[in-house]
Amino acid sequence: MKIWDSFVRIYHWSQVVVLGSLWYTAEEGLMELHFTLAYLLMALLLTRILWGFIGSDTARFSHFLGSPQSVINYLKTSHTNGLHHSKGHNPAGGYMVLALLLLLLVQLVTGLFSNDDILSEGPLAYLVSYDKSGFLTRIHHLNFDLILGFTAVHVIAVILYRLKGVNLILPMFTGKVDLDETEPKMKHPFKAWIIFAVISVFIYFIWADEVISYLF
Ligand code: HEM
Ligand code: HEM
Repeated sequence: MKIWDSFVRIYHWSQVVVLGSLWYTAEEGLMELHFTLAYLLMALLLTRILWGFIGSDTARFSHFLGSPQSVINYLKTSHTNGLHHSKGHNPAGGYMVLALLLLLLVQLVTGLFSNDDILSEGPLAYLVSYDKSGFLTRIHHLNFDLILGFTAVHVIAVILYRLKGVNLILPMFTGKVDLDETEPKMKHPFKAWIIFAVISVFIYFIWADEVISYLF
């Protein structure tokens, strides 16, 4: 059965590539590229968040964020019954997804107010005092370490599932798992890409055109 629509899959793997590139460009001081990639990730992330309200069942927050009791039950039963494929995110994984999305949001927002003490500053840094921008830059650095830590736990969890015979990575490419249950409702990913296009055009005209024209 199909559990991940193509938007979620493309979103996930482009996020991995863009995040790695953001890290590299920041370390190398390639700030125009850093900004451009950050705007791309911003458009992807905002679309993903909206998709969490109006998208396919398995992408919806209401679908994968259960009560704390459901997380405890899941952890108890997986301990005794072993690990299985879920129809989307499992109850514990759902909260990890929420944490990763929120951390990325914090990273993007603090980046807008950051400065590198030389030439580059985020497009909203002028709105706050120099000290506040410095503080938000420190958060931008610290939060990135949190992203790395949470991503490590995320990837280790996926590897543990694999070692227990449950391959979660393949479905993130193909969208499909072998489960004999009623299929979750999928929305046409075209809608997500329209939202992505509208958000991208918006971000381009408010912030990105200047830095992109500098690059090319
Ligand atoms: C190579 C490294 C990575 C692998 C192998 C990987 C693998 C996966 C897999 C298998 C899932 C589906 C989990 C499930 O079945 O419930 C998933 C979901 C997810 N991963 Fe990763 N991941 C990687 C890196 C990252 C990074 C760097 C981030 C961001 C910081 C990230 C954020 C997410 C999010 C937000 C979801 C939920 C997808 C959605 O609902 O839109 N992952 N990942
Ligand atoms: C999820 C998206 C983002 C990630 C993962 C990210 C990552 C990073 C990292 C790791 C650094 C520190 C590099 C170092 O060690 O010096 C950094 C610095 C910086 N980032 Fe981002 N960033 C993101 C979004 C943004 C955005 C949206 C902006 C502004 C438009 C921005 C502007 C800056 C600036 C100005 C610095 C320099 C700070 C300094 O040199 O102390 N970033 N970013």
